[in-house]
Amino acid sequence: MKMLIVGGKLQGVEACYLAQKANIKTLLIDKNPSCLARNLADSFIEMDILKNKEAFLKKAYDCDLILPAMENDAVITFLEQIQIKYHLQIAFDFKAYQITKSKKKSDALFQEHQIPCPKHYPDARIPLLMKPSEASGSEGVEVINCEKTLEEKLQKITGMDQWIIQEYLEGPSFSMEVIGSPGQYKTYEITQIHIDDQYDCCRVTAPCDLETRVKQEFQRITLDIAEKLQLKGIMDVEVILHNDTIKVLEIDARLPSQTPIVVYQTTGINLLEELIRVFIPYTPITVTKNNPRVVLEQWLINKDATSNLGEKVMTQCGPLYYYVGLVEEVDILTDYVPGDEILRMILVIIGKTDLEIHARRNYIFSELKNKNLFQKT
Ligand SMILES: Nc1ncnc2c1ncn2[C@@H]1O[C@H](COP(=O)(O)OP(=O)(O)O)[C@@H](O)[C@H]1O
Ligand SMILES: [Mg+2]
Repeated sequence: MKMLIVGGKLQGVEACYLAQKANIKTLLIDKNPSCLARNLADSFIEMDILKNKEAFLKKAYDCDLILPAMENDAVITFLEQIQIKYHLQIAFDFKAYQITKSKKKSDALFQEHQIPCPKHYPDARIPLLMKPSEASGSEGVEVINCEKTLEEKLQKITGMDQWIIQEYLEGPSFSMEVIGSPGQYKTYEITQIHIDDQYDCCRVTAPCDLETRVKQEFQRITLDIAEKLQLKGIMDVEVILHNDTIKVLEIDARLPSQTPIVVYQTTGINLLEELIRVFIPYTPITVTKNNPRVVLEQWLINKDATSNLGEKVMTQCGPLYYYVGLVEEVDILTDYVPGDEILRMILVIIGKTDLEIHARRNYIFSELKNKNLFQKT
């Protein structure tokens, strides 16, 4: 099985990680020669596919399936056009994506089908959360705590249609993936989303300590949204648990980053393989995992500090590689080279208990410290 992955940023890293675990051969294409995932695929081609259609098609015919691992509108539209014109197998639901990429359209779907979600301004009052309708990665997310700030913001924003202003809800947030086609959907292990002070996801953990009632409600809502969208492919649903009630924050019909790796490491289920099966005949590799505790987190270390930060920190990196040989049951992805003043890394730590995970994390930090990383060579 050979997969053509389009996009070498965080989603591309996720796809390459999962493909490697499933022994799926990968060709990664990105116009950025130093994209994050360039060394994580079996082969890489630097190409702007919008300017090299023939060359791209040639590579596409040589693969079993194409996976869009980015959220660039022009590229998504291009892929949709060539899918139809050249009968290419693309693991993506273009129709559902047009709705989920817009929080406005997603909210309209939630209203239409009574899917629980935060109330919107002006029905909702301070504290409010404001976020762009068509962004991701917590870009532009702000909490408004006073009327004066609200007035200022309302004056500043050009069009309400580009912004979501909704009640700010306290509570932990969770994610669930659903994969399939109408009438046959599967949902997967719930993961908890931990955010930094920019509302960016700095840590993902599983399994989650949620009541069965809450898990069932979350699954019911996720399946309901998938059916309403007539989804063919993958979608993740992000919710907040507020006063014991699930409220949907957003939905995204594309391969997520961070959560699929955690689902794989705690259940052995590879969401990339599950997605492939929706589009072509494919038999997943069976991997048994006894639901160990899993933490995926980003760290920035320099000579003064060690900080757990949101996923955005990794977007400043060059091509990532696996830092091996430090400790068992931990995957480390970084672009650090000796002499660098900063080390940025994704840690995937597995353990029977939180204590074990904690111990493994501390061992890594002490080992990295002993290596005098930031000494001028
Ligand atoms: N209404 C809300 N109340 C509380 N926190 C929220 C709310 N909406 C968003 N957030 C927080 O902001 C983060 C980003 O918002 P989200 O809707 O997921 O947008 P994005 O597409 O940028 O991920 C969420 O992960 C959550 O932590
Ligand atoms: Mg989000």
